[in-house]
Amino acid sequence: MKTPVRVAVTGAAGQIGYSLLFRIASGEMLGKDQPVILQMLELPMDKAQAALRGVMMELEDCAFPLLAGMVGTSDPDVAFKDADIALLVGAMPRGPGMERKDLLLKNAEIFTVQGRALNKVARRDVKVLVVGNPANTNAYIAMKSAPDLDPRNFTAMLRLDHNRALSQLAAKANVAVADIEKLVVWGNHSPTMYPDYRFARVKGQSLKDMINDADWNANTFIPVVGKRGAAIIEARGLSSAASAANAAIDHVRDWVLGTDGKWVTMGVPSDGSYGIPKDVIYGFPVTCKDGRYEIVQGLEIDEFSRERMNRTLAELEEERAGVAHLL
Ligand code: NAI
Repeated sequence: MKTPVRVAVTGAAGQIGYSLLFRIASGEMLGKDQPVILQMLELPMDKAQAALRGVMMELEDCAFPLLAGMVGTSDPDVAFKDADIALLVGAMPRGPGMERKDLLLKNAEIFTVQGRALNKVARRDVKVLVVGNPANTNAYIAMKSAPDLDPRNFTAMLRLDHNRALSQLAAKANVAVADIEKLVVWGNHSPTMYPDYRFARVKGQSLKDMINDADWNANTFIPVVGKRGAAIIEARGLSSAASAANAAIDHVRDWVLGTDGKWVTMGVPSDGSYGIPKDVIYGFPVTCKDGRYEIVQGLEIDEFSRERMNRTLAELEEERAGVAHLL
């Protein structure tokens, strides 16, 4: 039996948590031979802690053979203790009349505390995925609050955007999702993101040539992917949860187990690639191997793409400036 992996999940009693925890415990994230210990963090309020207890009771009732232990807590130092993987899902939602700036600052408080706790008690090679919005900037704050950890340990979730783009492209070109390779979503997890299929291939053929529709790209595909989250809220009355949990599973599984040369999109601290300033957490195409990701290099950036990449970068820079005084 392998040594159990400690997986911390924040916001464990929320919507995404409810879709995520059971899949982690069943082995879908780390493999069917990998035991896990779930270390779940929720707010200290009675309601949140009671809901967390309920989720833990249901986890028990699944009798998952791979679930080697569980911790439920409101203390980040307990939740992140010796964590190998940390999924930071819990965040302050945007309330009625709340300005974007206030949302940023409220979340900055949360992610400063959690970054510090990770710095103090998590494993030195902990892999952190930030899902809670604004995900890229929250990941940046956690990274900056954890100076003893390698910045490369911190990532933000762009995978839902990547998966959304894959499905839209597969439908348009009438091909199987699994046959599309080399897709990328650049930038921020926000409507400014830039899904880019210029390099994408289907069984060796250029997907861009197959679609051959610049108008659809600019006026349908990019806005549909960018506004998909809002369309789901409109339809469901609640934000995406099962698909977000699924994307989190995809992100961590690929990071840990590797992508076998395939590209996936991850929000990672820039190393200066493609002119994106160092440390900005930006969606890049990456490949993963042996628990490490590498940004795909050498892609040509045309004028249209540069303009889109700069637009989403400008938003990230603005968010970064808004929290700079706290770091
Ligand atoms: P939710 O509101 O159902 O659950 C969030 C949970 O986090 C709540 O149970 C709350 O008590 C808890 N929480 C809040 N602050 C916390 C803290 N400081 N420590 C521990 N727990 C805390 O929300 P849902 O639907 O699960 O979404 C979670 C986050 O994920 C939101 O910020 C949402 O915007 C974001 N999201 C991100 C996506 C992405 O692609 N990056 C996609 C979909 C959602």
